[in-house]
Amino acid sequence: MTTIIRGGTVVNADRAFRADVLCFGDKIVAVGEGLEAPPHATVIDASGQYVMPGGIDTHTHMQLPFMGTVTADDFFTGTAAGLAGGTTTIMDFVIPDPKQSLLEAYHTWRGWAKKSAGDYTFHVAVTWWADSVHADMGTLVRDHGVNSFKHFMAYKNAIMADDETLVKSFTRALELGAIPTVHAENGELVFQLQQDLLRKGITGPSAHPLSRPPEVEAEAANRAIAIANVLGTPVYIVHVSCAESLDAITRARAKGQRVYGEALAGHLVIDDSVYYSSDLEFARGHVMSPPFRGKHHQAALWQGLQGGNLHTTATDHCTFCAEQKAAGADNFTKIPNGCGGVEDRMSVVWDAGVGTGKLTPSEFVRVTSTNAAQIFNMYPRKGLIAVGADADIVVWDPQGTRTISAKTQFAKGGFNVFEGRTVQGIPTTTLSAGNVVFSKGELRAVEGAGRHIDRPAFAPVTA
Ligand code: URP
Ligand code: ZN
Ligand code: ZN
Ligand code: ZN
Repeated sequence: MTTIIRGGTVVNADRAFRADVLCFGDKIVAVGEGLEAPPHATVIDASGQYVMPGGIDTHTHMQLPFMGTVTADDFFTGTAAGLAGGTTTIMDFVIPDPKQSLLEAYHTWRGWAKKSAGDYTFHVAVTWWADSVHADMGTLVRDHGVNSFKHFMAYKNAIMADDETLVKSFTRALELGAIPTVHAENGELVFQLQQDLLRKGITGPSAHPLSRPPEVEAEAANRAIAIANVLGTPVYIVHVSCAESLDAITRARAKGQRVYGEALAGHLVIDDSVYYSSDLEFARGHVMSPPFRGKHHQAALWQGLQGGNLHTTATDHCTFCAEQKAAGADNFTKIPNGCGGVEDRMSVVWDAGVGTGKLTPSEFVRVTSTNAAQIFNMYPRKGLIAVGADADIVVWDPQGTRTISAKTQFAKGGFNVFEGRTVQGIPTTTLSAGNVVFSKGELRAVEGAGRHIDRPAFAPVTA
């Protein structure tokens, strides 16, 4: 299986240059001008287009059992939707129930993910603490290619990690050369605010953002960063949604602390007016945590990406259909939290980032792929167009446009938070492990073709 991508401009995080890209099997085998290819090679004409590393979505939830239901996209439909949008690797989450063995949960998720059409890898959540969790973390890092652990500081009475769990798990992660990540929201405060709102009879989706104001997120971000600082661990904050959280990251980084931040495509372009719509189904469709915020937070998030204090872009793809969201019709705390976007992230970030001059094409590659590969130790296998890297490639038409709609999307759930948005900058071809899986609007995803990507621990640096 040989493919040559001819005549495009290769964009890596460090530079852009004119070159052909030759792929053989699942790898890139040559990058250069005027490359020869065997007569049987598939030829992709990329003239006038960019040739970029496939996107890495650092945050998805396919087939997640959550809040009494299961997300609409499974690992096949979710990864296939990603491929259609130029995302070739997803980082999903194993989320054990409290008291459940991490290893058992990990194997369950690995089983579900076998049907993936694109590559995948897992963060494992630490939702409780015991000696067995300490042991399981070791096994996961040593034997199962896991190098990141997730901590939900919210979702009280469910998967919330208390401070003891954070401290013990961060300490263990440091010992193992793994990176702790956090969902930063103070779960006690959220719970209290939710009960207050319900007592006052405020039960609709407009109560959702009121129960999770920026201060609630900032408190948790500051706490996680402080714990990481005392223990000497790096920390990665998922779905940073507000200026106050970003400030915590920026301050810590300015003092030399290794803190990373993730922005969601949705938080970058959607504001909190969605919760006040008289169309309650529409408002419920936007319920996710942290919630969409006021416009000045979006401006801050873009500044974070431009200034290097936010490093990755993701989606938190976690789709529920209208019937599932209706479980919270009388009580906003019962609306399953989550929105989609895996199919749209690359175009949304390109359109709103590169299209407005906020990001260069190389900076786009950095925040959609390369930084993720480096932070989570998949680089240079992922996140780079170079000899020896995986042939996960997106051929990108910067002039092409698409109007996003649930009616035409590949993802399930029948809803799209970017509905009606016309984006300029679209994938014309996606290659995953050397296979053409998307071409000019046609999805050729193959169930089960995706591979688990092992991510080794970060070894201590020795001279
Ligand atoms: O609302 C969200 N984000 N749902 C998915 C779980 C999480 O908090 O990431
Ligand atoms: Zn979260
Ligand atoms: Zn999430
Ligand atoms: Zn349904």
